Amino acid sequence: MQLLDGTACSQQIRQEIALEVEAIVAAGKRPPHLAAVLVGDDGASQNYVGMKVRDCEEVGFGSTTVRMKASTTEAELLAKIDELNSNDAIDGFIVQLPLPSQINENNVILAIDPKKDVDGFCPENVGNLSLGLPTFVSATPNGIMELLRRYEIETEGKHCVVLGRSNIVGTPIAVLMSRNTNPGNATVTVAHSRTTNLKALCASADILIVAIGRTEFVTADMVKDGAVVIDVGQTRVPDNTRKSGFRNVGDVDFEQVKDKCSYITFVTGGVGPMTRASLLQNTLKAYQRR
Ligand code: GUN
Repeated sequence: MQLLDGTACSQQIRQEIALEVEAIVAAGKRPPHLAAVLVGDDGASQNYVGMKVRDCEEVGFGSTTVRMKASTTEAELLAKIDELNSNDAIDGFIVQLPLPSQINENNVILAIDPKKDVDGFCPENVGNLSLGLPTFVSATPNGIMELLRRYEIETEGKHCVVLGRSNIVGTPIAVLMSRNTNPGNATVTVAHSRTTNLKALCASADILIVAIGRTEFVTADMVKDGAVVIDVGQTRVPDNTRKSGFRNVGDVDFEQVKDKCSYITFVTGGVGPMTRASLLQNTLKAYQRR
């Protein structure tokens, strides 16, 4: 079994981006600038946004965190998005999800200028992705593809099972894995909560991408010998033995599954850092396009 090291890979990507930023600044231009909107005080979201801002600092990007209270109305958030859309100093921005229940996520996504939508969530960017046109590929699927690319994992002709059909991960990764690209060219099955015979289906996968949001859902009997397993899940569960009071648990039972795999990601240092590195790549792209 080889661990797919997202920490090391993302470090490499950040170094590549930092070099590009150095060249931009040396040419007398301003560096790229990312803004992140954080609504409410969800601990995990605060942590993610904090890490995204630190990543910006590391590569030399400018960054702005827009904090809004949990009681923010949809109209207030939409007004803030308008402001960010027209702010020339900001190349790209994200609105961290999930949002408080009084706000409709789709309305928010629809309000973001596609040219600044570095999450790749809005219809124009999702449409371009399905058509194979230049776009912002959303960060998690892009991070997974980058991990497969950098480890030179063979995907052509392989059976890839994607567990989960979310707009953010399952659906776009299924599109990317089936495209005529490398990595890609896989035969993809999208499985979800209503799929029958799920265990057997997963056990037939050469590549299993798990984004179902259920802790330790994938057990050893669901994994074929020699499979590549990518665990996107990351759920905080209470843990009194930790200073933080919680630990992150993936969608894959890593201890049970690891010895069956050719390659596997771990819940920490796997897909998460790759997702953040992809956001930096998209922000640089947004900057270069302007
Ligand atoms: N919440 C979980 N993942 C993401 C992501 O990639 N982008 C945003 N904006 N929110 C998220």
